[in-house]
Amino acid sequence: MTLGKKIRGVFRRQPRRPQGGGREESGGQSAAVEVRRYKGGDRRAVLRIAAESFAGLCLDENIEKRFGRVGGRWQEHKKDSVAYDLSSSTSCTFVALVGGEVVGFICSRLYGSRSVGHVANMAVAPEFQGRGIGKALMRAALDHFRGQGMRYARIETLEQNEKGLRFYPSVGFEEIGRQVFYFMEL
Ligand SMILES: CC(C)(COP(=O)(O)OP(=O)(O)OC[C@H]1O[C@@H](n2cnc3c(N)ncnc32)[C@H](O)[C@@H]1OP(=O)(O)O)[C@@H](O)C(=O)NCCC(=O)NCCS
Repeated sequence: MTLGKKIRGVFRRQPRRPQGGGREESGGQSAAVEVRRYKGGDRRAVLRIAAESFAGLCLDENIEKRFGRVGGRWQEHKKDSVAYDLSSSTSCTFVALVGGEVVGFICSRLYGSRSVGHVANMAVAPEFQGRGIGKALMRAALDHFRGQGMRYARIETLEQNEKGLRFYPSVGFEEIGRQVFYFMEL
């Protein structure tokens, strides 16, 4: 995607995908999703989605469950990490909108010396997940990387994130390793 160009897609406003897979195909009205570059006015919505979307999918939450709060709730740590990208001049964020409302975001960084684009954070609001919005956001980030001369893209997810484990290979990523995270009280 060249900068400033909007991606439009159509998805059905429908109940979330059932646990077993498969998509619900009935009962919804069509709505358009637009993907565009992040603007300052999107900040509040992006941070809210960041705090709402990662329950059960976040290292800081794992730590909090085992050790209690470490300098604030895990949602605040997630918001801080996304806020870093929103204000960083070397990051590029895209947002997805439905009916003018921000319903998802993807934050990316460029590692120019290695020609690698890095997806640092992404999320779709829980009630809008499973409708192709994540894929539309990923397309925007990958097109951005290509447009900036990157030759590769990278992303990480936790083993406990089943959607991520299915999503990233479905858009072309190959698994290249798994890491184990440790933590201790001093
Ligand atoms: C991961 C996430 C960004 C994907 O966005 P989304 O809009 O839900 O995804 P899409 O509808 O575009 O689906 C993309 C792929 O994700 C996978 N997926 C989506 N919903 C899924 C579900 N309920 N169960 C398993 N896989 C699922 C599928 O592989 C799907 O591709 P397919 O439709 O060809 O099968 C979104 O679910 C999310 O915000 N999750 C919580 C936060 C998070 O995990 N962020 C990424 C951290 S690494």
